[in-house]
Amino acid sequence: MGVAGCHAIGRVGSPARRDAGPGIRDGCEGGVMRGVFITGSDTGVGKTAVGAALAWRLSCEGLVVRPRKPVESGYDSEQGCAHPGDGETYHAAISGREPLARIGRYRFRAALSPERAAALEGRTLRLDDLIQGCRDGVGPEDFLLVEGAGGFYSPLTSDGLNADLAAALGLPVLVVCADRLGAIHQTLLTTEAVARRGLPLAGVVLNETVPSADPRMNNGVDVGRWLGCDPVLVPYHHDAHGIPIWRAIAPSLTAVVAALVTNTGG
Ligand SMILES: Nc1ncnc2c1ncn2[C@@H]1O[C@H](COP(=O)(O)OP(=O)(O)OP(=O)(O)O)[C@@H](O)[C@H]1O
Ligand SMILES: [Mg+2]
Repeated sequence: MGVAGCHAIGRVGSPARRDAGPGIRDGCEGGVMRGVFITGSDTGVGKTAVGAALAWRLSCEGLVVRPRKPVESGYDSEQGCAHPGDGETYHAAISGREPLARIGRYRFRAALSPERAAALEGRTLRLDDLIQGCRDGVGPEDFLLVEGAGGFYSPLTSDGLNADLAAALGLPVLVVCADRLGAIHQTLLTTEAVARRGLPLAGVVLNETVPSADPRMNNGVDVGRWLGCDPVLVPYHHDAHGIPIWRAIAPSLTAVVAALVTNTGG
């Protein structure tokens, strides 16, 4: 049986569904926006680790990557380098080629949904603010890499979910899911939501954020069977040498890099 609509939304390594590639005609500027929207099955599943690895590797492929973490909550500026925020991680991954303030425009202290964290600081964010923040400084040849916050249906602003931002930008969606018990359900649910928005699926990454508790579990095979396309597996990386996690896992993302470069004509 499988999941309705999944075969129609493309797979890593296959051509994207849209004629113009996995970007859209950007009505505001008349150009083609190309890039990827990184979402997750949840918070803390490795969106930044995967996104920064992709930003680095796509830059190495010669693309001008414009990472955007349009809104970040749980941001503590006083912890500095000990706990870099997502914006700082992307900044490092592209060797500081873009100002941090442009990568992450809105940051709030409370580790809550961005909408609520903003409200606690007396701010109301609108979806248009984030759309503008994502588009600013992105040329027609650039690769826009956007990380949402939380999961696909997590609220970002008073008037929009992650799904709404992805749809407004018209980017293909990469779903990152923690490779643990429950991953099959979370992956299928999220990819079905992506399909409902009519967005191409750039791929599914099963990321082992903690070592697998049961060697008999094989989410890669099971997700692949139900989804109808193979997920990309990222193994747990034991941080023994102080290498940033995104550098350590980058070799596992070769298939995603190849698909994004191919599908964006890079
Ligand atoms: N493959 C991996 N092996 C080991 N640790 C990992 C792996 N992937 C991610 N991590 C760790 O898991 C934690 C969460 O990862 P990350 O910050 O990328 O998640 P996220 O989905 O971006 O979270 P948020 O919702 O807060 O933006 C981090 O401490 C990261 O270093
Ligand atoms: Mg993150």
